[in-house]
Amino acid sequence: MKSLTTVKGLDGDLLDGLIDESSEIRDALDAGNLMTPVLEGICVANVFFEPSTRTRLSFDLAAQRLGAHVITFHAATSSLTKGETLEDSARTIAAIGADIIVVRHPEEGTADLVAEWTGLPVINAGDGTNEHPTQALVDAVTMRRHFGRLEGLRVTIVGDIVHSRVARSLMQVMTVLGAEIRLVGPEGWVPSDTGLITSGALEGALGSVDVVYLLRVQTERGGDVTDDYVEGFQLTQERAAALTNHAVVMHPGPMNRGVEIAHEVAESARCLAEEQVRNGVPVRMAVLRRLAEGRG
Ligand code: CP
Repeated sequence: MKSLTTVKGLDGDLLDGLIDESSEIRDALDAGNLMTPVLEGICVANVFFEPSTRTRLSFDLAAQRLGAHVITFHAATSSLTKGETLEDSARTIAAIGADIIVVRHPEEGTADLVAEWTGLPVINAGDGTNEHPTQALVDAVTMRRHFGRLEGLRVTIVGDIVHSRVARSLMQVMTVLGAEIRLVGPEGWVPSDTGLITSGALEGALGSVDVVYLLRVQTERGGDVTDDYVEGFQLTQERAAALTNHAVVMHPGPMNRGVEIAHEVAESARCLAEEQVRNGVPVRMAVLRRLAEGRG
């Protein structure tokens, strides 16, 4: 694996291996074990053209825990504001000494372009509506650690799916790993070309699921929060009561409480949103380690 710009084409063995390694790293970190600094002398550049809390900070800490130097590019205070092109900016970051670039950008395909322009390993931290590969790995690790398996797991993704790069990567990863994915959302927000079972109503869709995976309305990419949406698709306490005892609620964050998820549901024991965040650093450590070692 030279870069991780997409999850398309990643087979079950590779995904299982990444999930195993991430989970082992999580156990080691929980036990207070320091990791071998396999990235010593390597420079990881975090290059974010869009806001981020979880992804940027967890890549930052993951790289530091592995002994790397970390440099951070903030688009708003960079020389982009003086007219420098994206390509020149990427090549400048490489010339400064970056060895691995982590990039988030509002345009689909930017991570691939940065890899092409620089010749460096690149990790896609989210490109437009296209993909968010490490978030899908975080979610797969979280589900496997919780349920002990992914094969046959019934996962229902709810909300603004069509604008969601998280959903796109998650559907791909979980399908390869044998989960049963269903999609629920308003007309126009559920892609029709996935071959998955879809529904336009939350009522009746929750009784037999293992995971309800909620999405934020992606207002920056065309989604629009309406009263009808909140009324029809918010996971309220009343709706969550239809879930079986073992079912969990997941959300990649950031959550908009009172929109896609009720505050009480976000605070309930069945909500794994914080556990997803906890798995962010180990997953990104596993990915950085593979790229640094040039392993497939
Ligand atoms: N899930 C996710 O990508 O969160 P951030 O936007 O905070 O990085």
